[in-house]
Amino acid sequence: MKAIIPAAGLGTRFLPIAKAVPKEMLPLGDRPVIHYVVAEAATAGFDEILVIVSRGKESIIEYFSPNPELEHLLEAAGKSAALEAVRAVPRMARIEYAYQETMRGLGDAVRLGRAFIGDDPVFSVLLGDTVMRHASPLGAMAAAWESLRKPSVCLEPCPEDRVSRYGVAGGREIGPGVFELDRLVEKPAADAAPRLISRDGSPLAFHAFAARYLFTPAIFDCLDATRAGLGGEIQLTDAMERLRQADGMLGVTWTGKRLDIGSPAGLVEAARELADPQ
Ligand code: G1P
Repeated sequence: MKAIIPAAGLGTRFLPIAKAVPKEMLPLGDRPVIHYVVAEAATAGFDEILVIVSRGKESIIEYFSPNPELEHLLEAAGKSAALEAVRAVPRMARIEYAYQETMRGLGDAVRLGRAFIGDDPVFSVLLGDTVMRHASPLGAMAAAWESLRKPSVCLEPCPEDRVSRYGVAGGREIGPGVFELDRLVEKPAADAAPRLISRDGSPLAFHAFAARYLFTPAIFDCLDATRAGLGGEIQLTDAMERLRQADGMLGVTWTGKRLDIGSPAGLVEAARELADPQ
């Protein structure tokens, strides 16, 4: 199965380092953030991957490409563990790249994947600056697709004072942890944010989109029809709301921990989390 990993943003919250190092290439231990994202996709069966990059982010391409010269040196030096670590990276998945020429938002970046996805019935999108700490939600999302044939978004509880930073979903529970969504809003004010309703009719905590999506190719027509929204950008959430109106959209809740590498504080916290074997 195929996946798209958008990794084209400017990384303004990581300036000045993002001048020279893409935020997706910042280290978590001995590997960059995007290594974990590719590994998650491949492990969940999405091992044909399109990474959306922008100019200046060629180190991502270099990281996932074989490096025969380095391999030769390590082999000659008998450094077999290092050699294996180096060889394992390009073997994780079959990766292609597309360039986003102008920064027109996440929706525009995903739109660039249309030809790559082709006629595949379903594909995933994993945001390149988020690491899922425990099991990936993609398994549950793929299972929801198998039984209900609807696209989905991963949801996680979100404190009220943070809803204006995320995409937020409203909807009704139709199975354990699975919601039929009735509203998708990008970065709403807390008093205008939609809510999920449990099976017994009680309102739940706010739930935000947690950086993992499962789409049908119909999302591409929805993206083409979506005009610039919040921040003058083509918002993926606006296209998802269109797709929901046409075909329905599920929310799949997930109880693992999302490590958001979108800010320096998030990166530090993620490094701490990953250093902890629990
Ligand atoms: C993006 C999406 C938002 C989502 C968030 C985290 O926002 O637009 O809907 O909740 O990622 O997955 P960004 O962090 O790029 O502002």
